[in-house]
Amino acid sequence: MTDNFCKPEENSYNFEEHWNNAYLKTPTVSLGWYEVNPKQSINLINECSLPEDALIFNAGAGSTTLINKLLECGYSNIIVNDIAASALTDLKNGLASHKNKKVQFIVDDLTKPIELLNLKNVDLWHDRAVLHFFTEESQQIAYFNLIKKVVKVDGFVILAEFNLEGAKKCCGLDVVNYNVEMFQNKLGADFELLKSFDHTYIQPSGNKREYVYSLFKRTA
Ligand SMILES: C[S@@+](CC[C@H](N)C(=O)[O-])C[C@H]1O[C@@H](n2cnc3c(N)ncnc32)[C@H](O)[C@@H]1O
Repeated sequence: MTDNFCKPEENSYNFEEHWNNAYLKTPTVSLGWYEVNPKQSINLINECSLPEDALIFNAGAGSTTLINKLLECGYSNIIVNDIAASALTDLKNGLASHKNKKVQFIVDDLTKPIELLNLKNVDLWHDRAVLHFFTEESQQIAYFNLIKKVVKVDGFVILAEFNLEGAKKCCGLDVVNYNVEMFQNKLGADFELLKSFDHTYIQPSGNKREYVYSLFKRTA
């Protein structure tokens, strides 16, 4: 388990190195956020009724099993992002059986985006367990500005983060706990809440982590 292996003390903390180390030191299936089956995300994505060529952006994807599931479902236009290149190694290796499908990888910081600023017309933004690590207001502003820049009107946003009863730390980092009203405030009136629910995720260690899942649609 990766909780508590190091602790940042300054604003200048090197998050890229932190996350690279997390993935280098711990096998994917032992990570405290590893999901065998990302059922809650898939159910919400199904609610969007997207065409198979819809542009799906997975923020801070790490080694998520979601990308393989999306390819199995027929989706063919997927962009996978992470701040840490090593986070994506297992995911890339696992895509060997889907060689003909379009998956683009972008290593970039969601809170200081460079290459990500080129994105446009995203049909679905998906984030599980990433936003809650952005404890500085400036990081949150940059993150939500990016969503508002790249998600198209009629596009969707899925946010799944630790809820108000949830853990206060993950992977040695402080987190911000969320509820749906907080998501709505950050997204603004152009995003309409379609669905939300709490979910208890069981870590590989057997410990529980409380999440809030939400699905928003951009209306303007
Ligand atoms: C707890 S993991 C969740 C991974 C994946 N979303 C999942 O559900 O399995 C958090 C992920 O966010 C990535 N991450 C953290 N800060 C980031 C940032 N500023 N920009 C992009 N990715 C980031 C980490 O490298 C890590 O892969």
